[in-house]
Amino acid sequence: MGVNAASAQEVIKFAHVVAPNTPKGQGAEYFKKRAEEILGDKVKIEIYPNSQLFDDDKVLPAILRGDVQFGAPSLAKFGKWTKKLQVFDLPFLFKDMDAVSCFQDGEKGQELLNAMSGKGLTGVGYWHNGLKQLSANKPLRVPEDAAGQKFRIQSSDVIAAQFEAVDAVPQKMAFSETYSALQTGVVDGQENTWSNIYSKKFFEVQDYITESNHGLLDYMVVTSTKWWEGLDPEIRDGLTQAMNEASDYANGLSAELTAEQRQAVIDSGETEILQLSADDFAKWQTAMKPVWDEFSGDIGQDIIDAAAACN
Ligand code: LMR
Repeated sequence: MGVNAASAQEVIKFAHVVAPNTPKGQGAEYFKKRAEEILGDKVKIEIYPNSQLFDDDKVLPAILRGDVQFGAPSLAKFGKWTKKLQVFDLPFLFKDMDAVSCFQDGEKGQELLNAMSGKGLTGVGYWHNGLKQLSANKPLRVPEDAAGQKFRIQSSDVIAAQFEAVDAVPQKMAFSETYSALQTGVVDGQENTWSNIYSKKFFEVQDYITESNHGLLDYMVVTSTKWWEGLDPEIRDGLTQAMNEASDYANGLSAELTAEQRQAVIDSGETEILQLSADDFAKWQTAMKPVWDEFSGDIGQDIIDAAAACN
């Protein structure tokens, strides 16, 4: 390769906070593989997992500055940029991941990819992680069990309201600080997906996990609108193809990884898994559902209705 060809290479950084053996970690690797296969030496994709480069609160400004080109924060982490994506945090909104796909692939979900275009950010795809489970050092069977317990949460006002609805104390905290906060007792519990609970070993420092499936943790892959639109069209088309394939790949893989890693947590014997009876599940739903009304003005009732219609 000549000097000119080398200097024309587009170096593209993708930063995220989870481990490589997660749906997002694998999606990012797949994107790299396909982009480099499709575009050859025209691009070099560098993946930075495990908050190596940025925590989620720093990655969006970094994308706008051009320090990194792609990030995929959880949909819970865009509150400062748009209120509309808060829809994804509403407790008990989606009954399963098929309902999530239906909403994301539908008209409203696709429109939400552009919810931050006025702020210079473009969404290029949704990636699944999965539904969240509750964990703590005491058994959480009914909403009253959570009262007074401190929970680490992602930086989402909806999730804060969800825990306040059961008289718990939410504490926003970076993902990278969660394990040590649980270990040292700075917080009593947390909510997360099986893949995050497994890959970050939260199960080793939590005595109980309630399989509550009470909310969603999914991602939007985002980039800078200015950078994206300024790319050589051949490169943008190749990246679009690689991203679409990576989205299909990550979304197909998430259910499989979730099942595998849930089983690995159970097999570890380090924590007790609690199943909710239908009655107890309904109690959590009743306690947390008022959060929908609290945020419907910010989100838009039409968006909430479109999501709920997918169940
Ligand atoms: C969390 O902070 O718990 C998650 O958003 C981390 C992630 O990216 O899955």
